[in-house]
Amino acid sequence: MLPSNVLMAPLAGYTCYPFRILAYELGAGLCFTEMTSANGLKYADKATRRLLFTTEKEPVKAVQLLGGDPAVVTRMACSNLLKDFDIIDINMGCPVPNVFKSGEGSALMLDQRRASAIIRGCKKSGKIITVKCRTGIQKEHMFAAEFVRMCEDAGADMVTVHGRSRSMMYDGACCYEEIAQAKAAVSIPVIANGGIFSAEDADKMMERTGADGVMIARYALENPFIFSELTGKSTEKTVARILLEQMDLASACYDETFTSRYIQKLISYGMKGRKGTKRYKEQMYGCGSLEELKEIIVRIFPCDR
Ligand SMILES: Cc1cc2nc3c(=O)[nH]c(=O)nc-3n(C[C@H](O)[C@H](O)[C@H](O)COP(=O)(O)O)c2cc1C
Repeated sequence: MLPSNVLMAPLAGYTCYPFRILAYELGAGLCFTEMTSANGLKYADKATRRLLFTTEKEPVKAVQLLGGDPAVVTRMACSNLLKDFDIIDINMGCPVPNVFKSGEGSALMLDQRRASAIIRGCKKSGKIITVKCRTGIQKEHMFAAEFVRMCEDAGADMVTVHGRSRSMMYDGACCYEEIAQAKAAVSIPVIANGGIFSAEDADKMMERTGADGVMIARYALENPFIFSELTGKSTEKTVARILLEQMDLASACYDETFTSRYIQKLISYGMKGRKGTKRYKEQMYGCGSLEELKEIIVRIFPCDR
């Protein structure tokens, strides 16, 4: 049972450990690491260690794996490298051309036998196995219900459906009807994702799809308070405080280069829709140290929300 049914999406470049801690604090019921290549895991290099970094403070630990070879993904799912994680989510939705061409991410929607073998293999780890997929590959031919049924048959414990086809990438209206059909087709929980940019959008998603929960991606970067808005979990935090805390936490876990790039990206999202902030962009990207970045944060975001 999760603390809430408002989930934070896996987001490459963003859902590092500090962001997940923040999302949980604000009410998210489940957060995922960024997608982590099962092939890359065997190298266990600095980048991979960063992706897999977690501590006891993270309430539920969910890693997302990207891979197309059932044997490789199974080996990684069962390996000691993932010992800290309770949940393994399998990426079956990434639309990026290189990923797709390698038979990974959304390409698995076109090869359901392989997708099924990956799920069955991951189940051998004894962990909770979830899948994140899209509504299909082409907009003209969506098949989320059929795909989700295959996931359930293979043993998946939960599926998230991003209500867009691969051809739609990240744009266009979310296909509520496709998600609703997927939800109706199975008895495992189905989480609805795509195009939630306000609390009203989240309510609409729940109403139109009958899903068991929602997953928020880009909007949570812009407005992480959406988790407290939707769950009723109260917070005293301000944007500035969040950013300063994120900087401290990131500095404690990662090197300065990673930290400043991560914080710059968060500031950039935080500035969206705020009047008069454009002029700070240049200063922010020209910052020479974290101390300077701190000063800019305080200047851009006054102490109110
Ligand atoms: C910058 C970026 C990185 C993403 N990284 C991942 C990822 O690592 N794994 C994944 O399953 N989806 C990833 N996604 C897709 C999101 O999780 C989500 O499905 C998509 O953005 C739709 O949700 P939204 O409309 O609320 O943003 C990414 C999306 C963006 C924009």
